[in-house]
Parts: sequence; structure tokens; C-alpha cells
Amino acid sequence: MTTRAPERATPPWIRPHVTALHPYVPGEQPQEEGWVKLNTNENPYLLPQVVQAVAEAAGDALQCYPDPVCTALRAGLSARYGVPPEAILCGNGSDELLTLAVRVVAGEGDRIAYPDPSYSLYETLARIQNAFPVPVPLGPSWELPVADLAAAGGRLTLVANPNAPTGTPYQLQEIETLAGSVEGLLLVDEAYVDFGGQTALPLLARHENVLVLRTMSKAFGLAGMRLGYAFGAPATITALRKVQDSYPVDRLTQVAGMVALERFDEVMANAQEIARRRDRYAGILRQRFGWKVWPSATNFLLAEPASRAASEVFAALKARRILVRHFAKARVERCLRISVGTEAEMGALVEALEGVLA
Ligand SMILES: Cc1ncc(COP(=O)(O)O)c(C=O)c1O
Repeated sequence: MTTRAPERATPPWIRPHVTALHPYVPGEQPQEEGWVKLNTNENPYLLPQVVQAVAEAAGDALQCYPDPVCTALRAGLSARYGVPPEAILCGNGSDELLTLAVRVVAGEGDRIAYPDPSYSLYETLARIQNAFPVPVPLGPSWELPVADLAAAGGRLTLVANPNAPTGTPYQLQEIETLAGSVEGLLLVDEAYVDFGGQTALPLLARHENVLVLRTMSKAFGLAGMRLGYAFGAPATITALRKVQDSYPVDRLTQVAGMVALERFDEVMANAQEIARRRDRYAGILRQRFGWKVWPSATNFLLAEPASRAASEVFAALKARRILVRHFAKARVERCLRISVGTEAEMGALVEALEGVLA
């Protein structure tokens, strides 16, 4: 028989702001098979050539450390995006690059501004740093509050474009206005840009205070490999690298990233297919169930069920082994965030909803 250890108070050597911290809660990752998983915005299209290249690389040289600065991968990114290698940093997912940016820019009590609702990790990272989080409300239809964000006085301003969990794309002009009016660094998190957003990469030539983050977790279908990259002024990139781990991207991930980049056209074709499916299922949710579904430029939909509480629909779907995301957070608590999966997965969702909502 096992006995549970008694709950312990946090030891006194833990810093008080860490004791008070509510950690970021990632979406559920069920460990058994058989789930329809539409809760963490993964992409069902994994390129077989990437799998093969990773399998081959795994048989070779894993005893050696990886290239600490991802030279070949950065060369590939440079060629693809037209940004010089010294303006690129690779990391262990874009989450790591967000952490680095917060650590490098903001200290205790410094203001970190971001639209609300947005990616909830932004607040957590600010609190880890004991900085001062400044959430700035989005407009009634999730418009970017450009003037209010600029007035928020952040040393760091974080904007996801397109936004999560709303799916809203912002115009490049709005991002440029913000870049010209914030006091500090403007980080543009473009995790979902390949599904229909407008990139801020052209701003790098005009605004030294812009840092653009990308990831291979979404359009490239490589969430399990953990690969993100930042594009920014070389001086900012150098500073981020100073506080990064020595070997942040493992050998297999570097291989996966390079092969995925070589097959960029297939990646984009898959992303476009997901975008078309997203729009079609937005129509189905609206027409068949009367749900409110916001326009999305991402690989997910934010949808408000018509006659049942979102939390109830979430639970009923989960009982049928379909996972979507529900946030117990102001303004989105009445909504579900639904990742766009395969045609079969989306069909299973609609069929389950017909039962749940009958
Ligand atoms: C807006 C946004 N930024 C960043 C990330 C993290 O991406 P990565 O897998 O590269 O850490 C996510 C993941 O869901 C996200 O929604």
C-alpha cells in the first residue's frame, strides 16, 4: 500500500513571487490512443520525409553535442526569409524565445504589456520575472488596441499576430504604428502567420525594436520537435543568445527543421488546406448549430455555443473522447477553441455535437 506524502508548505528558500505564481497550464496531452485531439493547435500533416531524415539522423552521431548555434538551419532560414543569419536565433520552441526575450528586456517591476485575451503564457512569463504585467483589453470584436498598448509603457510589448485564442489577424500597418510608438521592444509572435496572417518581417529593415518569432509547431507540423526562431536586430539577437542554454536545439530537431524548410511548398500547401477546412467548418458550426464563430486566420476557431454553456459542451465532448479547449477566463469563458484537424476528425466533432446538442 502506498501512502500519500502530506502536503508541504513551500520552503522558505523559494522566492516569494515564485511561491505566489500560478504556473502556465498547457493543454491536455492524453497518454493513450483513441482521442480526437483538437485542443492544442497541432497540425495533422507531418511530412514523411522529415520523419525519415530524423530516423536516419538518430542512427548517427547522437553521442556528440549538436551545433550550438544551428549554423546550417539558420542559413536555410536566412535563404527562405531574406534575413541575414546574424539576425536569426533558433530555440527550443518559440516558448523558449519568449522566455529569453522577457529575461533580457524586463526586470523586477518593469512593465510588460500585451493585448488581452491573448496567449496566457505572456502573463506567466512576466510574473516569473517579477515584472509588472499590463494586460490591455482588445476591442469588442477583438481589435488591436494600438494606442492603449503604446500608452501602457511596456519595456516589452508582446503581440501575437494572428492572435490566440481569438484567431484575429492584425494589419501590418497597425503593427508598424505600434512599433513606432512603443517605448521598448515590440515582440510579434507569428506562431500562426502561415494560415493567413500578415508578417511583420518587412518591419525589421525600418524598426530596430521589432523582434519576430516563428515556430515549426503549427504550419510545419513539428510541435513534438520543439523548434522556434526569432528574427530581429543583430544586437537584440546577440543579447538573447547570451542568456540561452549552450545547446538549445538538439541534433534531430536541427535535421527536422532543415528538411521541413526544403519542403516549404508542401508545408504551405498543407497550411492552405487547413485554412480552407477551417473556413468550411466555421460555416458548418454557424449554420447547423447557430454558434457564433469569429473569423480566423489561424489553424483554430473560437466558437461560442448557442444554447449550452461552453464548459458543458467541453465536458460532453471529452466524455466522447474529443478534446477541445475551454478557458475559464474573462471574455472567452463562453467560448471553445477548436483546432482544425483532419477531415475525419472534424467530421467526428460535428457528429458528436449533433448528439451532444440534440
Ligand atoms: C501564440 C502562441 N505563441 C507561441 C506558442 C508556442 O509555440 P512553440 O510550440 O513554438 O513553443 C503558441 C502555442 O500554442 C501560441 O499559441
